[in-house]
Amino acid sequence: NWTTGNVIDEQVAAIREMVGDKRAICGLSGGVDSAVAAALVQKAIGSQLTCVYVDHGLMRKGETEQVEKDFVAATGVQLKVVDAEERFLKALAGISDPEQKRKIIGREFIRVFEQAQAEIIADEGPAVEFLVQGTLYPDVVESGGGSGTANIKSHHNVGGLPEDLEFRLIEPLRKLFKDEVRMVGQELGLPEEIVHRQPFPGPGLGIRIVGEVTKERLDLLREADAIAREELTAAGLDRDIWQCPVVLLADVRSVGVQGDGRTYGHPIVLRPVSSEDAMTADWSRLPYDVLAKISTRITNEVRDVNRVVLDVTSKPPGTIEWE
Ligand code: XMP
Repeated sequence: NWTTGNVIDEQVAAIREMVGDKRAICGLSGGVDSAVAAALVQKAIGSQLTCVYVDHGLMRKGETEQVEKDFVAATGVQLKVVDAEERFLKALAGISDPEQKRKIIGREFIRVFEQAQAEIIADEGPAVEFLVQGTLYPDVVESGGGSGTANIKSHHNVGGLPEDLEFRLIEPLRKLFKDEVRMVGQELGLPEEIVHRQPFPGPGLGIRIVGEVTKERLDLLREADAIAREELTAAGLDRDIWQCPVVLLADVRSVGVQGDGRTYGHPIVLRPVSSEDAMTADWSRLPYDVLAKISTRITNEVRDVNRVVLDVTSKPPGTIEWE
């Protein structure tokens, strides 16, 4: 019979057996799947596991700290953090096209990750033979099905490594669905904010700025996003919505008035959606007073933003993300 305790015990035994006295590497994204996979493998092999977190500078407010501090505190995992913000910003300079942004972020990510990997392999210690991945059952079915669905956007994920990888894979979540993964994470004592995190795209805020990605724009979007998340949480709506991208229309300006002055600032888009699996989605009918609060706070607190708009498009025809 299925219990999270059984799943954990079984996996811990299987992973120990498989890894023996060798070492393993795991990429952390801040998301649920990689966090739970890493925590499970850490429980099995302890310091034989090293996790890598690439900080691409495109995360939301507080997310990197959550991995660096809370996740490490909860699991005792050995973590290598690579601060690659400058590198990513440099590579993204002058780029506005969404697909180009995704390709650049994916490419840089793999380069930085491989570099970190090489450094870990070069460290003293047993051979690094294993790579941990947070593959879930639906991913297994999807890729095994070979249905050849059209690639509408090139998706990028942590661990989206090249074909010729020289590692054996550890995929402790292969038989689990998302809700089961959350239960296992909870049982392993992971922080609530990680276990119940809503989906967030690998390319991060890089695909939530319509226009060129700059440090200044990222900081501005981080502030707006943090306000929206704070108010949605305060209103108790986190579990009702699938996710709520907050998008900065950096290439658009509109006229506003604030105090006695005319402003000419950027709009922020709220994109709250309800969904079962992200394949289709509907825009969430959020309470007006919550929307009002978010709008007031963002226009008051975020420099250069003088308008907040609500995206009322379902998917299809709109995708969840704007890029
Ligand atoms: P779209 O915009 O295609 O998004 O309707 C569907 C879901 O996927 C997420 N998303 C991504 N996740 N890497 C990811 O790991 C990506 O490149 C990526 N692009 C979109 C999006 O947030 C939504 O949950």
